Amino acid sequence: MCGIVGYLGTKEKKEILLDGLQELEYRGYDSAGIAVIEGKKLDSFKAIGKLENLREKTKSFHSEGFGISIGHTRWATHGKPTELNAHPHLGRYSYVVHNGIIENYQALKEELISEGFNFLSQTDTETIVHLYEKYYNQSEDPFKAFEQTVNRLEGAYATLLISESAPDTIFFAKNGSPMLLGFDGEEIYFASSDTPIIGKASEVYYLEDGEYGYAKEGTIKLFNANGEKSFTKQPLKADKTLAQKDGYRFFMEKEIYEQSRVMSETMMGRVLDKGIEFEELSNDFFNGINAIKICACGTSYHSALAAAYLFERIAKIRCDVEIASEFRYKEPLLTQDTLFITISQSGETADTLEALKMAKGAGLKSLSICNVDNSSIVRESDAAILTRAGIEKGVASTKAFATQTMVLWMLALYVGQQKNSVPTELLAREINAMLHTPKALIVTDTLHTKLHRLSKRYLHGHGFFFIGRDIFYPLALEGALKLKEISYLHAEGYPAGEMKHGPIALADSELFTIALMPKSMHYEKIKSNVEELSARDATICAISSVPFDLADDFIKTQYDSHPMLEFFEMMVVTQLLALEISVRLGNDVDMPRNLAKSVTVE
Ligand code: F6R
Repeated sequence: MCGIVGYLGTKEKKEILLDGLQELEYRGYDSAGIAVIEGKKLDSFKAIGKLENLREKTKSFHSEGFGISIGHTRWATHGKPTELNAHPHLGRYSYVVHNGIIENYQALKEELISEGFNFLSQTDTETIVHLYEKYYNQSEDPFKAFEQTVNRLEGAYATLLISESAPDTIFFAKNGSPMLLGFDGEEIYFASSDTPIIGKASEVYYLEDGEYGYAKEGTIKLFNANGEKSFTKQPLKADKTLAQKDGYRFFMEKEIYEQSRVMSETMMGRVLDKGIEFEELSNDFFNGINAIKICACGTSYHSALAAAYLFERIAKIRCDVEIASEFRYKEPLLTQDTLFITISQSGETADTLEALKMAKGAGLKSLSICNVDNSSIVRESDAAILTRAGIEKGVASTKAFATQTMVLWMLALYVGQQKNSVPTELLAREINAMLHTPKALIVTDTLHTKLHRLSKRYLHGHGFFFIGRDIFYPLALEGALKLKEISYLHAEGYPAGEMKHGPIALADSELFTIALMPKSMHYEKIKSNVEELSARDATICAISSVPFDLADDFIKTQYDSHPMLEFFEMMVVTQLLALEISVRLGNDVDMPRNLAKSVTVE
């Protein structure tokens, strides 16, 4: 949620900020803004909506001398997406950008208002800039004022502050929201993730929670609760070319097409003839572990739900799954023979991160399955397995889900091997199926064209049910989530066998049912569930390798020798269906309304 960038140096600051924000726009795109101080000259611009509006507004602005600058792209939490609520927020002589939520902002705001400070916005962020000015007015010591400010903040923040009171300095603080520092000689960059600084900075330092400080004259002073601290920079090695659209209409489309390739990368060096290996896990990692608890949100939660079936079926280990935001407040009973697994594409999801901290606090061993190395969740975990999906930019997650599910499937087999609970024939069958998944993920022209044509029929009606059984139930949930995220149509995922316990009351020709009907798993059961719906006139779109006469639309799949192959092939169908419906409705596929790629607020 929200992306921040900062730059101190002599280059054209506007371009650095706008390019950086472009890379972070997936984190929020309700509004954007920048502020630049060069000598005594102070400029600030804000625009609501996408970044291109800010680009347009700053067309004739240039900032080429030495100076300091900050920028922000917003996903609204407190206050509507208006220009007044856009960052940077201005005090009398200072500007601030912030990602996170200041939980005690109401109390701070009341205090500041009673002391004569004037608030222009409805945001929690604005308290930071007034607090700074309150303390600076008292001491005229910029760093002391910033430190006092940070000490008053409760909640999550990654924040940058610039001020005429210290026109060569950028102040920064991080707690709970991501921020890193990039270095290239005397030039210093700040960003919420590394993509804005790739190609610009050569070295990086990922700030830890509780760290704050300032950048001045090409150097950084870093502090935490124990005082000043040293830090070690590391080389920045990511490759930006991987994050371009490459001729596809949307990042989401490109990412769907990439799934076959990235799946091979996910398996590389891990899926071997003799079994599964994870160099990330020590040989004794599963010693003493008798159960698994997985916590995640959204799409990542759906991959966790599918994994629970696999852990119990393949590895014979108890596995339960919880939505991170529910787990946090339920006072869960945790035992130390439980491995706590978090799944996250971004590695920054606040609820998942906090759930992980709780589990660690209770003494549980932790493992994260994540797409972003060095992210907060990876750093917080005892061990991490990277999904290797590459940068995912479409807000609706696709390849991250596919690779998460693959890693979890591999992990189930790995745990089974460690516990000697996988018979040799089963091991061979699973490995053989894994090696075939890249094929099942290939998007053919025939399939894409068919879904494009067929999507026309599904633009109206009073809703969608995606139904499936077993691992196809989580896939149904995921299919429904994909559709609602980017089409804004109502869709629900349901276990097929549950329809007759209530939802079937909705059945009529305007109820669209997307039926996941794998040949290799409970085919006859799901078939009769779909027949029940068809008998009540529901419009049926069946996805199966087995022809189904009652279907109004039928999408034939190819790979039915193993349930996971059917799973992945059907996953692609549901993703493309959502994409094509969204395109027909004229929606912004990559940046659907009200959403953001990385949810760093609870
Ligand atoms: C949906 C989607 C979200 C995320 C959720 C968790 O397409 O992307 O539901 O899955 O916000 O995000 P991560 O996986 O980054 O923890």
